[in-house]
This record gives sequence, C-alpha cells and structure tokens, in this order.
Amino acid sequence: MANIVYIGASLDGFIADKNNRIDWLHEIPNPAGLDLGFADFMARIDAIIMGRNTFETIQGFDCEWPYKKPVFVLSNTLKTVPKSIADKVSLVRGELTDIVEQLAQLGYQNLYIDGGKTIQSFLQQDLIDELIITTIPILLGGGVPLFTELNAPLKFKHVNAIRYLDYVVKNHYIRER
Ligand SMILES: NC(=O)c1ccc[n+]([C@@H]2O[C@H](COP(=O)([O-])OP(=O)(O)OC[C@H]3O[C@@H](n4cnc5c(N)ncnc54)[C@H](OP(=O)(O)O)[C@@H]3O)[C@@H](O)[C@H]2O)c1
Repeated sequence: MANIVYIGASLDGFIADKNNRIDWLHEIPNPAGLDLGFADFMARIDAIIMGRNTFETIQGFDCEWPYKKPVFVLSNTLKTVPKSIADKVSLVRGELTDIVEQLAQLGYQNLYIDGGKTIQSFLQQDLIDELIITTIPILLGGGVPLFTELNAPLKFKHVNAIRYLDYVVKNHYIRER
C-alpha cells in the first residue's frame, strides 16, 4: 500500500506557472515521443486521487479523458462530474486518512496523488510514501508551488535517478519512517 506522487516540477519548485499553465513541461525536445516512464508508473498504481483544480485543468485539455485507472477527485464544491466520464471519475471529500482507508478496502492499494494543494495536504499529514519528481530545467519565478510549510521535517531516501533527453532528471524518493 503506497501513496505516490509522480509530478513534473520546475527547477524552482513550481508545478504550474504564474498563469496556471503547464506548457513548459512539454517544451523539451523529445523527437521520439518518450513517455519518460509514465506508462510503467501507471501500470503500478490502482487509482488516482487528484485535486479539483488539477481535474479542471485536465478537463480543459482538447483530448479524450486520459486515464484508464479510476480517478477520485477531492472537492468540497463540485456536486457532479460530466456524464461522459461518470464511470471513470468519482468525487470524494472528508478526512484524507478515511478516504485512503476506504479506497484500500475497495482494493485500491497504490494511489497516485496529484495536484499541488492535494500533495501538500497529504504531506502535512505524513501520508506520502514515495515522491517521483521529474525536474524540468526552467526557472518559472512563481506559480503553483509543489511544496509548502510542514509542521515537522519529513525525511526521504533517494532510490533512483534517471536522466532523460539531455534535459530532465527523474528522482525517486521513498519516505524513511
Ligand atoms: N507539473 C505537473 O506535473 C502537474 C501535475 C498536476 C497538476 N498540475 C497543475 O497544478 C495546478 C493545480 O494544483 P493546485 O495546487 O491548484 O490544486 P489541486 O490539488 O489540483 O486542487 C485543490 C483543490 O482540491 C480540493 N480539495 C478538497 N479537499 C482537499 C484536501 N484535503 N486537500 C487539498 N485539496 C482539496 C479543493 O477544491 P474545492 O474548492 O472544490 O474543495 C482544492 O481547492 C494546475 O495548474 C495543474 O495544471 C501540474
């Protein structure tokens, strides 16, 4: 059972720029269209928990719903999801520990945790087991931060680093408890 962050971040630690845009994530030259290990990661997880803002960003993309695994959207304001994705997306709210426990009982053990505020909320409660962070060599100077303040430091062990395409590094950290 693991709660795993898999995310792209700028050198200065932002996951979206000042205009809430993520184009810069996809601007590195990638002629062969490598997925940088995303499909292998998705094969490992059972379900996705994402914040409402990330959900709305994905809905704004000009493409079909991209995930085959079940998606649980954290929101205290949304009441419904569009009919076209109602079999793939559910809304959840409440205590994160309860949500994780309920999903585990449904058989969703390994969770992909996505969205800035969402990741921060999980970290504040020490509910993240792995961080897989792909660093993009750009300084955005502001935007949506990946991390924020914590009540206490959280230590991680570094288990792997992969350099891709002469531009990015994917670092994999595991929580040391
Ligand atoms: N670089 C990347 O790889 C990457 C990946 C994912 C997202 N992004 C970007 O990050 C931005 C979205 O991140 P974000 O920080 O704005 O927010 P987020 O985590 O996607 O969404 C936050 C929202 O989730 C809801 N929520 C409900 N319970 C929550 C809880 N316990 N903890 C946290 N959120 C809870 C709240 O919505 P309600 O008001 O409805 O309650 C809250 O405003 C977008 O620009 C997206 O494109 C980038």
